[in-house]
Amino acid sequence: MGQMRLGVNIDHVATVRQARMTYEPDPIAAAYEVERAGAHQIVMHLREDRRHITDRDFELAMQTVHLPIDLEMATDPQIVAIATKWKPHICTLVPERREELTTEGGLDVAGNLASLKEVVGELLGAGILVSLFIDPQEEQIRASQESGAQAIELHTGEYANAKERSEVARELERLSEAAALASSLGLEVAAGHGLTYQNVTPIVNIMDIEELNIGHSIVSRAIFVGIERAVSDMLALMRR
Ligand code: PXP
Repeated sequence: MGQMRLGVNIDHVATVRQARMTYEPDPIAAAYEVERAGAHQIVMHLREDRRHITDRDFELAMQTVHLPIDLEMATDPQIVAIATKWKPHICTLVPERREELTTEGGLDVAGNLASLKEVVGELLGAGILVSLFIDPQEEQIRASQESGAQAIELHTGEYANAKERSEVARELERLSEAAALASSLGLEVAAGHGLTYQNVTPIVNIMDIEELNIGHSIVSRAIFVGIERAVSDMLALMRR
């Protein structure tokens, strides 16, 4: 019971800035407002193509933001080197293909266990917590535990995209079962992708999920009401 943890992904503040290659809006200024609003962590994805968050953003966040930083990243060696140099609180490993609009599907941990173990080991060795962004599937959860990661983030994209009521119910069941299994294996359980003010409540009701990471919907609402209010409204929906 109490307040479910909220990580706010500020990538799309940077997306607006990059649309003009200028200095505003500054995602780090957004991070300070997110902190003031009572969120629990700042999430940012340093992509190989630097489409939104840049090295300057990540480095400045590490130097000036007091909330824990969750760095979303691919297993690319250059990004791993940046992570081990700066040591964010946690790294969430995500799949990354250059052509995609956003992260499509979870990481195939089961199919790439040996190489993932190496990256997980390198990050853990630097004193960084590791989370794996995966689809709610038993084999991915078991492989995640085997990889040495302490946490998983369940991909809620299929749930968010589901239209028919039966499809929504099926996706919620999958997420609920996956969260229970992961939790029973001792993994910390987060969830995210595609969550909105309209669809978040059934996810909040899955008690094995301890944290949500939300970006697009909060940044979208912030355009109209400001980011502090957008964050506090989401936090209010996440009280249990
Ligand atoms: N969690 C992960 C691992 C992600 O890759 C993303 C998208 O960057 C999110 C959460 C946030 O998704 P959204 O922007 O749809 O809220």
